[in-house]
Amino acid sequence: MRKLDKSTTFRSIVALALMSWALPASAGDAAAIDAGCVDCHGADGLASENLNAPVIAGMPAAHIEEAIYAYRDGARQCRFEPMMCETVLHTSDERIADLAEYYAALPRDSSRECYDAKLAFRGKEVHERLCSGCHLKPDDDGVEDALGIPLHGQRGAYLRYALESYMDGRREKLLEAMARKLAELEKGDIDALVNYYASY
Ligand code: HEC
Ligand code: HEC
Repeated sequence: MRKLDKSTTFRSIVALALMSWALPASAGDAAAIDAGCVDCHGADGLASENLNAPVIAGMPAAHIEEAIYAYRDGARQCRFEPMMCETVLHTSDERIADLAEYYAALPRDSSRECYDAKLAFRGKEVHERLCSGCHLKPDDDGVEDALGIPLHGQRGAYLRYALESYMDGRREKLLEAMARKLAELEKGDIDALVNYYASY
């Protein structure tokens, strides 16, 4: 993809703002600009400009809301970007619903990262054994019923950080069933999983 310069970014933000004005059906895109989410996650939800921020495009709206509330009530803590937690603290519930709907409707593109094929192969086995019951691949049937947030195509640095945060307690494990699976991970498995999800 072409690298956007500042003025192009500005033009697309203006275009987006105008679009939202012309299409009152979605309050989310205007809200995303207003609330400052685009600064880190981008208007496309791919966070191409902030490599610490996760891809949130195409994530089910319910998960986006759940995650934001987890940051608000402290079940998730911000390590890289205190601004993220600061921002959502001042975002109204109604706006969170609009934002979740907006980002959920965007196409989820692969993060196109480099990965190690051997590690990815090992990661696939770990995923299928411990994680695939809840975290489906985008083309699996029944995506609507998936319990967990999509992991395939998520940015590697973020996944590593999220997994390490669950392991060292900076993130509450909201689901006992996932906590049990995480406890089964062996040395090197996180590395393998991160490479597998990046390979997608
Ligand atoms: C200063 C940059 C920044 C801003 C502004 C920001 N975020 Fe984030 N966001 C992040 C980072 C970095 C993370 C990863 C978590 C962390 O730091 O703990 C994150 C995590 C998330 C997650 C969790 C995703 C997942 O995979 O679980 C969601 C959802 C999210 N942000 C939505 C939003 C929304 C909606 C807004 C606007 C109200 C917003 N963010 C504003 C940087 C930002
Ligand atoms: C019983 C269902 C279940 C299983 C099994 C499960 N998860 Fe999860 N996972 C969830 C749910 C629900 C969430 C969202 C709530 C939360 O943050 O705890 C989640 C969140 C996550 C996140 C945070 C994603 C993000 O974008 O912030 C990661 C990373 C993750 N899981 C990895 C794994 C891995 C790796 C495994 C296998 C070792 C696994 N999970 C097994 C249900 C599950």
